[in-house]
This record gives sequence, C-alpha cells and structure tokens, in this order.
Amino acid sequence: MSKRVALINGITGQDGYYLAELLLAKGYEVHGIVRRVALQDPAHRLERIAHLLDRVRLHGASLESFPSIYRVLAEVRPDECYHLAAQSFVSYSFDDEFSTLNTNVNGTHYMLAAIKDVVPNCRFYFAGSSEMFGKIAELPQTETTRFHPRSAYGISKVAGFDLTRNYREAYGLFACSGILFNHESPRRGFEFVTRKISFGVARIRAGITDCLHLGNLEAKRDWGHAGEYVEAMWRMLQQDVPDDFVVATGDTHSVAEFAQLAFEIAGLDHRDHLRLDVELYRPAEVHLLVGNAQKARSVLGWQHRTSFEQLVRQMVTADCQSLGCPLGIPSVSAVSSYRAVPGGLTGPGIQELV
Ligand code: GDD
Repeated sequence: MSKRVALINGITGQDGYYLAELLLAKGYEVHGIVRRVALQDPAHRLERIAHLLDRVRLHGASLESFPSIYRVLAEVRPDECYHLAAQSFVSYSFDDEFSTLNTNVNGTHYMLAAIKDVVPNCRFYFAGSSEMFGKIAELPQTETTRFHPRSAYGISKVAGFDLTRNYREAYGLFACSGILFNHESPRRGFEFVTRKISFGVARIRAGITDCLHLGNLEAKRDWGHAGEYVEAMWRMLQQDVPDDFVVATGDTHSVAEFAQLAFEIAGLDHRDHLRLDVELYRPAEVHLLVGNAQKARSVLGWQHRTSFEQLVRQMVTADCQSLGCPLGIPSVSAVSSYRAVPGGLTGPGIQELV
C-alpha cells in the first residue's frame, strides 16, 4: 500500500514540529510549506526542524500568493493538509492589523480554494483558536460558545473558521477546525508568555540578567502541551465525518501563577526578579479562557495528559539545561540575591514600572 501523503503549512512552527514527528512516526510521506527565504537560509530559519530535514520535503510558497499555494497542492497532491501557518502573535496583530488579516484570512481562503480545485478529496485541518471566544460569553467554552474576538488575530481566526465551515457545507470538503486553547512546550516561540517566562527565569538563574518584565499578570489561560494537541488534529482528520472540536485541558491559571511556579522550580523568588510593565498590556485583553473538551474526549478519544505543573517544570528545566544552569545545582542569582520575603505577587518589586 502506498504511503499516505500529508502537507503541513507552517511546518517550522512549534506545532508543525510536533505534527511532522507524529506523522512520520505513523508512516506518512510528509511535505511542508515554508517561505522561500527559509529555503535560502536553512541554518537559521529551519533550525527547529533541522533533525527532520532528511525525512520531509519542503516547498517554498507564500500565504499571500494564491498561485504559489495552488502550485504546491498540485505538485504534492496530499491526502491530508494541516493549515497551521499564520501570523500567530496576538500582540503583534495590534501593531499591524492589516497584514495579520491579509495573511491569515487570505492564506486560509487560498488553501481552501486550491484544495477544492486541485485535490477535493484531501482532508483539511484549520488551526482555529480559543482567541475566537475573546470576551467570553460563558464558562467553560465549548464548540457552541458565541465568538467575540478581541484582536485582529482573533477576528482573522473567526473568518478562517467560517471559511472552513463554509467550504465543508457548500462544496462538501472534508474540512475541520480545531479550536485549540493555548498549547506550549520547550519548542514554543520566545514571544509567547510561557516561553518568555521559562527562558527569562533560566537567564536569571544563569546570571545573564536580573529581571523579567511582564504585562498583564491577571490574564488566565488554559495551558496544555503542544505535543498532545497535534494528536487531536490528526484524529480529527481520521473521523467518518468532518467536524469542529475544542481541544483544552479544562484547567485555567493566571500568568502570575505560571511565573511564580517557574521561579519556584528554578529555586528563585519571583519577588526579587519579576517586574510589571504596563507597556506590555494589550489594548483589548482576553481575560479568561478555559475549555471544555468533552466532545474531543468522546468522539476523538483524545485526552490531555500533561498537567500545568508538569508543563511549567518541563519548560523551565529545558531552558535551564540549554543555558548551562541545570536544575539541582544552586543558581548564580540564587546565591547572590536570595531574599526570603513573605507575601504574594503584589510585593514592592512588582509595582516598580507601573
Ligand atoms: N506574549 C506576552 N508577553 N504575553 C504576556 C506578557 C508578555 O510579556 N505579559 C502578560 N502577558 C499575557 C497576555 O496579555 C495574554 O493575556 C497572556 O499573557 C498570553 O499571551 P500569549 O502567550 O502571547 O498567548 P495568547 O493567549 O495571546 O495567544 C496564544 O494562544 C492562542 C490560543 O488561545 C497564541 O499561541 C495564539 O496564536 C493562539 O491562537
């Protein structure tokens, strides 16, 4: 039997990395779409998937160019297509709403339109997001919770979700959306808060810097492990009928809790190093996200496994290891600046930049 062919758009990102590994392990022929510049500068731009480069085939294309997407689909003729590529940093979408909307909305539309023309039997996965819930209408959020996006990014994901459903209903495409809540790992980009914290804490532990600046500490997120969330993506495309699914842990924690635990794991006191920076607040915040993945559990047989504590520990451990200050050995800064101060995250250091 010939190998099933999968195409991952966004293979160089955190999720692309885990998904490519999963599909290769399942025996798929894996192709990835990357920007042309990535092919010209592999050492830098393909670093995350360097260990997979001899096992995947990469194709240069751009989310802004329908012909380039069309050409890749015609060449690869995938059985399954995972559309993960996007401008995915919510904060940046406030700086450039136009490029976020252009890239994310048109990119998804181009993928769907090309699949409909070239490979109408290809199964399509769209990376929806819990950011679509925005100003939440209910707790916890499910597949039927009303959307109220709070950023150009969130709006672009609602548009992609609607496009995906419409191609399913109007043209019979096997098209699914995963409504994934925040998912993290040691492979997470440095701009997202969890990695900013784990790497920041590791830098402090290594004595490279002394403080970590964060924005809204009160925001709450439902954080899971990215390696487990890509399994849900794959399961969606193995069903008899296409549908949309929430993928979440059902557990929510504040940014403050994440940071406090990360410092604790590294043997540091957050009150000595954490600084609040109001410049990092967003014009419109998504205050609280927590998902109900009951449908994914019963239909897909999917279940998260990594707890919040395990996730934070894994990320901090990996970053400390990479900076040469592994856990278990006293840190440079713990030795030089430890202060035992009772109290919570409202200590004096936290207020410094307000
Ligand atoms: N990035 C960042 N940096 N966020 C901060 C900071 C900071 O210094 N300080 C506080 N935060 C808060 C943000 O205001 C937000 O409430 C929360 O931390 C999480 O921010 P991010 O890690 O940037 O993730 P996100 O929730 O905005 O979006 C992520 O999850 C979505 C799924 O819900 C991204 O991965 C999206 O692409 C994804 O769709």
